[in-house]
Amino acid sequence: MNGPSYKAAARRAHNQVQQQAFDDIVASFEQPIPEDVLQCLELVVNKAQIHPGEAVLDIGTGIGVLIPFILKHHPSRVVACDLSGEMLKRVRARFGDRVTTLQADVVDIPLEQGPVGVVFCNAVFGNVYDQRETLEAIGRLLAPGGRLAISHPMGSAFVRRLKESSPRLQLKELPDEDSLRRLLEGTGLALAYFSDGLDLYLAICVKAGQDIPHEP
Ligand SMILES: C[S@@+](CC[C@H](N)C(=O)[O-])C[C@H]1O[C@@H](n2cnc3c(N)ncnc32)[C@H](O)[C@@H]1O
Repeated sequence: MNGPSYKAAARRAHNQVQQQAFDDIVASFEQPIPEDVLQCLELVVNKAQIHPGEAVLDIGTGIGVLIPFILKHHPSRVVACDLSGEMLKRVRARFGDRVTTLQADVVDIPLEQGPVGVVFCNAVFGNVYDQRETLEAIGRLLAPGGRLAISHPMGSAFVRRLKESSPRLQLKELPDEDSLRRLLEGTGLALAYFSDGLDLYLAICVKAGQDIPHEP
């Protein structure tokens, strides 16, 4: 098998594991979310500075924990993408026609879904098959000046521990600031804000050709 088709097959196999794992644990996502985590999620959404009328893409949306905060900013549309059909069923039940669902890996999202003003990757950047390829795909979907928020409400240390305790999921660590800058090279995205603490990992990346000011 040659390089690209081997990689595509490996990514499909990786994604099947992700899909099955998250289909199986969908009920655990329906438990009440602690207030401090809700505050983190709202902060992540606010930090991306959604402008009214911008389109928003939520990658690895799960049951849509970010969506109530996203809708407060009056986006033109919200596309919620996930590999797990069970997660997306919950999103449709909760938000109906206020959200478009897409069962796909971000790498396979057709360009017709773009350009979008803001992309969120909350608690999913460690799950993707190839972080660099994911950033390239997001770079293509974002409008000039568009923002990508990569976040995890429990920080990179939590993801590191999860990677060790759940080998089946084949997780990746969240990149530190220097590694993220290197991963972003050539994607058209630049790092505008980075923080990584015990309670929140948050990176805001901005697509070049900025026509919307972003305050770090
Ligand atoms: C840990 S959950 C986080 C869900 C949600 N963002 C949240 O914060 O509650 C990760 C989600 O990402 C999805 N996922 C994993 N890899 C993905 C990929 N490559 N593209 C889209 N979704 C993915 C999983 O199916 C799962 O629903």
